[in-house]
Amino acid sequence: MPVLSKAAESSPQGKEQTVGIDDLAVYVPGLYLPLEGEFARSRGIDPGKLIKGIGIERMAVPDAHEDAATMAAMSLLLLMRRSGLQPDRIGKIYVGTESSADEAKAMGTYVIGMLEQVYGRGSFRECGTVEMKAACIATTLALESQSYWLAAEDEDKVGVVIASDVAKYPLASPGEYTQGAGSVSLLLKKNPRLLSLEQVYGHFTRDENDFFRPMGCTTAVVNGKHSNQCYLDAVTGAFDSFAARAARNGIIVPAASECVTDFLDHILFHIPYPRMVEYASAAIFRHDWKGCQRRLKVEAEIGPEPGEGDGKDAAAFQAAQADYARHFARSPQFLEAFAAKVKDTATLSRQIGNIYTGSIYLGLASLLELDRIQTGQRLGFGAYGSGCSALFFSGQVEAQAEDLPGLGLMKRLEERKAITLADYEMLHEGKREKSVVQPEQEFVLEGIDSQGYRHYKFVE
Ligand code: HMG
Repeated sequence: MPVLSKAAESSPQGKEQTVGIDDLAVYVPGLYLPLEGEFARSRGIDPGKLIKGIGIERMAVPDAHEDAATMAAMSLLLLMRRSGLQPDRIGKIYVGTESSADEAKAMGTYVIGMLEQVYGRGSFRECGTVEMKAACIATTLALESQSYWLAAEDEDKVGVVIASDVAKYPLASPGEYTQGAGSVSLLLKKNPRLLSLEQVYGHFTRDENDFFRPMGCTTAVVNGKHSNQCYLDAVTGAFDSFAARAARNGIIVPAASECVTDFLDHILFHIPYPRMVEYASAAIFRHDWKGCQRRLKVEAEIGPEPGEGDGKDAAAFQAAQADYARHFARSPQFLEAFAAKVKDTATLSRQIGNIYTGSIYLGLASLLELDRIQTGQRLGFGAYGSGCSALFFSGQVEAQAEDLPGLGLMKRLEERKAITLADYEMLHEGKREKSVVQPEQEFVLEGIDSQGYRHYKFVE
């Protein structure tokens, strides 16, 4: 007899119509910079730190003819082709990005202009589009917003949410080895084939200076260590909000001996770099297990968590907490939960780097590519955006997910071209005009005219 996951056991019976993710497509540029070798040597960094300490092996780099809009158009084209989607079916295209080239014009209008070169002029005329900015969480806020619209929609329309970004920090800065680029397009639909959203959203927001990009700057300002802490605080806050709402809605109601994470078969976090999902899951499991019997098993291994009233001053308490966190992250209970529920979500990110607002959905693509998703499983998503906000939500895997065609991403990643450090630096600084690889069957930025309008075309 098949063993039902906690998600399947706890799902409300006889649900009629759901909304959620029907399909997705990922576009990754054809160039990458290997972090071992020339890059590590030139920056004076031990490659072990980059590969193990940060977790990135190869960083995706956009070619001279690419920008966030061409990448968005590419992932949408891939999505439309793989799911046989026609333009007149699409009611709304929301684009989540923090890499927009225009302060006013919505990136979706450029994207529609490009797609109409393939599908015919005017073919997207009745589609609404808006660009959403909220650092790395924009796409998830777009998804939440479209899920409410779709639930009320009665004309059999579908929605598309696109994430597209070039993650960019100054050369030779500590952020540099966490760059990347790419786009993910999500097809949102009623009665989706892949994932039905449970429509329980837990938010957390507070004003922070962890990461931002003032007007006119092409690279982000980041307070690295502070950004890690803001991420952990916000995702924990959103998780608590989600847990309380999920209990009120009767979706996840743990018994006295159970924890909320017992009801999540996979947890997908925002992935600025793969080690961050390890820090995030350690924070969430530790926090969640405090309220259930699992805590006793952990305490038997590593002792009790230091408490504020243990007679220590603030600095000593912080040091004791940091020490306990290190022990927790090495405990067998944590390592087992991490391997079962989180680790595989970072597989693609190791080869691509940070793609900002699409990174969390790169995690979903990783699970699909590794065939790790099964019907009835519940996925928990912990999205984060600097500034800072987090959103935790969940969805259940549908039976048709198993019939979706593969994304072909492992092959795409293998076919990319490695570039030299010199080429990477020229592209980074916008000094290389000629493409490294001649474009074929893709959208290209042809030029920017004297008014600043960008001209794109599809190259056969
Ligand atoms: P750093 O100073 O380069 O790294 O900063 P570190 O010194 O903290 O080391 C990192 C890990 O490498 C440590 O592991 C070291 O021990 C280990 P841990 O102790 O934590 O387990 N290490 C080694 N391991 C093996 N061999 C070695 C070795 N040496 C050290 N030889 C940081 C890292 C991520 C802060 C920096 O790269 C940065 O500022 N990146 C950009 C900001 C960022 O990604 N922040 C993440 C949270 S904010 C976020 O996610 C939002 C964002 O996506 C933007 C948005 O929302 O739009 C960024």
